[in-house]
Amino acid sequence: MAIDHDGPGGPHLALVGLMGAGKSDVGAAVAQRRNLRHLDLDVLVTGREGRSVGVLFEEQGESGFRDCEQAALADVLSLVQPVVLSTGGGVLERRPNRELLSERATVIWLRARPETLADRVGDGIGRPLLQAGNPAEVLTELSSLRGPDYEAAADHVVDTDDMTVDEVADTVAAALPDPVTT
Ligand code: S3P
Repeated sequence: MAIDHDGPGGPHLALVGLMGAGKSDVGAAVAQRRNLRHLDLDVLVTGREGRSVGVLFEEQGESGFRDCEQAALADVLSLVQPVVLSTGGGVLERRPNRELLSERATVIWLRARPETLADRVGDGIGRPLLQAGNPAEVLTELSSLRGPDYEAAADHVVDTDDMTVDEVADTVAAALPDPVTT
């Protein structure tokens, strides 16, 4: 496990990382520990659109999904009260999202090896990008493609491979800088 302190961002805490990183479970656990509100970007998107992520990809393609994701991210990061936000794995693909996260959130990268991620996502049901091929291969490729963006965005990095959700949440909660801390 490694944790780097590159300095805090804005009022919110955002968890980033690839599919299978544990962003949703860890986000809920961190929010509970710090008595903060937890929001999950995919849940916000599907609530706003009235469609699952899979249906959004089918009907509007990935770029349509990214438009919805970008709008939902802007909404949530405009909240005044701090939240713990579990993002979707591709949220950093768009520059405005990267800029907004850097301004409005302390960003934590939940990092894991592709083989760990593949174990966690199983057959990838519900995740359209993993349906395009073998999930392990897709995750290996996405690790290479997206690693630099996660690295650049992260205020902290937690290597989660051998950790439970509670252990990761303890690590993240302990690292929170003001004003995210309660
Ligand atoms: C995606 C990750 C998914 C979801 C969508 C696209 C990605 O979220 O936003 O399927 O591009 O990596 P999780 O990372 O929560 O699975």
